[in-house]
Amino acid sequence: MSESTARSVIAIVGASGTLGAYIFYQLKHSPYDFEIRTLSRKLTPPKGGDKQNHCQVDFNNVKQLEEALKGCNFLVNCMGTEGAYHAAKVNLVHAAAAVGVFGYITSDFGVDYNFPGKHFDHPCWHEKRDHIEYSKKQGLRTIAIFPGLFQEAPFGAFGPWHGFDPETRTFVVAGTGHEPITTSSKLDIGSAVARICHLVLSTEDTKDKPPTQPLAGKDYIRIASHSITPYEVIKVIHAHGETENKTSGDDRSKDWKVDALTTEEMRAKFQSTMKLVVMDDVARAALGPEFDIEFANEIAGRVFRAMGDGSLHFKTNDNELLNPGQKYWKWRSVSNFERDTIPKALF
Ligand SMILES: NC(=O)c1ccc[n+]([C@@H]2O[C@H](COP(=O)([O-])OP(=O)(O)OC[C@H]3O[C@@H](n4cnc5c(N)ncnc54)[C@H](OP(=O)(O)O)[C@@H]3O)[C@@H](O)[C@H]2O)c1
Repeated sequence: MSESTARSVIAIVGASGTLGAYIFYQLKHSPYDFEIRTLSRKLTPPKGGDKQNHCQVDFNNVKQLEEALKGCNFLVNCMGTEGAYHAAKVNLVHAAAAVGVFGYITSDFGVDYNFPGKHFDHPCWHEKRDHIEYSKKQGLRTIAIFPGLFQEAPFGAFGPWHGFDPETRTFVVAGTGHEPITTSSKLDIGSAVARICHLVLSTEDTKDKPPTQPLAGKDYIRIASHSITPYEVIKVIHAHGETENKTSGDDRSKDWKVDALTTEEMRAKFQSTMKLVVMDDVARAALGPEFDIEFANEIAGRVFRAMGDGSLHFKTNDNELLNPGQKYWKWRSVSNFERDTIPKALF
């Protein structure tokens, strides 16, 4: 495999978002020679960005997007699902294809909706798959990344919207509690994005194609920092304690338990009362004015079911393809419940 030495320009959309901030950070600190350009509706660059490499854009204006993307080799889309985001994504694809951007990572970053079964048979996931096909047709080397659930807040794997209820100290599961759930750290997702950009650009976007192209033909990449069962999650809490109470000597972490809903009747009954949109403070603060509660309920309910029956366990994944023997980074595990402390200190 030839390792390219030319500087590549990576454009990122959503670099101030809940996931994008981590990906932006990891792209900037990657071992590869990347110049990073941020595209946003806002005038101010994201944290860690600078004015020279920041473009304020109107996502309805394809010509303006073309200007912003000129000279870029890869586009990494970390756009959220606010307002007219679908039209914005399509305009981005048109602009990227028009100015010769080679690679495109779509704003997927969630469940593997190609997994057979009914949980992911929903328009929101059909739309994501259709977008990949559409982008490929426009000539972009398109890749979607499936990391499972985020480890870090907000909206990570562990919140009341997925049955993990700090109020009652109960992890309610739509299954036995022994099915692993794949989670990924947002920092690992960032490392994977940087590695994918590098591998694709250095082996597929070259005049003389090297004999090995590790990602050739792959449209979907599954990564897994740590797959863990609900019972194992509870063990982590028991071992770690609840930090806020530790100092006061009132550590109630041992109260945490799994409530396994092993029959369909139990699941249906629980779900009819489930407070899926009950948010913690961090999650509430991250919500935009256009947050759609009904939609959030529908999606969270489907993810809750998938977590319980193994549909969110990436038994096979592309970890080794991207990061053989953890040569490039160490996958992070669910090891405590202050998961956001370290990344936050980085920004
Ligand atoms: N696996 C998981 O557990 C999990 C959890 C949450 C999200 N996700 C996925 O991760 C991806 C990113 O989500 P996120 O929560 O990080 O996003 P987010 O924070 O809600 O939004 C990221 C950025 O996207 C831009 N944006 C949003 N709507 C837009 C629009 N209509 N037009 C143009 N730009 C728009 C905004 O950037 P500017 O304001 O700078 O323009 C915003 O800051 C999504 O695909 C989401 O489905 C996965």
